[in-house]
Amino acid sequence: MNQHDHRAQFREAPEPEEGTRATPKIVLVWIALLIVWGVGYYAWQIGKPMLGGDSRSAVATMQQAPKSADTNTGSGAEAPASAVADSNTAAAKPDGKAIYSAQCSACHQANGQGVPGAFPPLAGSEWLVADATIPVAIVHDGLQGKIEVSGNSFQGVMPKFGGTLSNAEMAAVLSYARSEWGNSASEIDPAAVTEHVERFGKRGDWSAKELKEVFGEP
Ligand code: HEC
Repeated sequence: MNQHDHRAQFREAPEPEEGTRATPKIVLVWIALLIVWGVGYYAWQIGKPMLGGDSRSAVATMQQAPKSADTNTGSGAEAPASAVADSNTAAAKPDGKAIYSAQCSACHQANGQGVPGAFPPLAGSEWLVADATIPVAIVHDGLQGKIEVSGNSFQGVMPKFGGTLSNAEMAAVLSYARSEWGNSASEIDPAAVTEHVERFGKRGDWSAKELKEVFGEP
């Protein structure tokens, strides 16, 4: 090693090494605040209704569909004024089919056949097409216990829809089911649900036995 080599060495910057300085306090405080805010916000939302998305129910979404269809297909013969009136009446009357797929099809299936051994069929069900008082009672208050539907036994729990669906919605979904899959029973008027509530008030779920005692054989 000669003199020149040493000079070159002295010109070098010292070898870098990792400092011992911890993350700045302000960053730690910031992270802590974000965690507290995140967890706090989550905790604060517990038990509140989920209002994600555009907050429309399936029913509302389906009701909007005919509106746009109106304007698209708006057969030239129809005056705009009547198209507006049409969509207004459509909005006033809930869409039974949309309510069925949102509220009932998970159990009774889209084709109304139910699930053997678990959920009774609505297609060809004597209970559904009986006097309106019976299906209204079932959907409004719920049903549990042993039940025979078109010759097969079921024993399960059906939730009540009073409080979840409006009277008009319950009437619409029942009217839909009563006229689908080969069923051909009369439409149900929302007034039938009102009458049911006036007669029975707030009560627990029905059993098939009780339905027969109160309303007679389906
Ligand atoms: C969580 C599952 C579930 C949902 C959702 C459900 N049901 Fe039911 N439903 C049942 C079960 C289970 C029974 C039989 C109860 C029993 O065993 O006593 C039943 C029975 C019925 C019956 C009488 C028996 C028959 O097959 O006709 C009708 C009518 C009925 N449901 C209509 C509806 C309508 C309309 C909706 C939607 C508004 C609906 N159900 C939603 C589970 C469900």
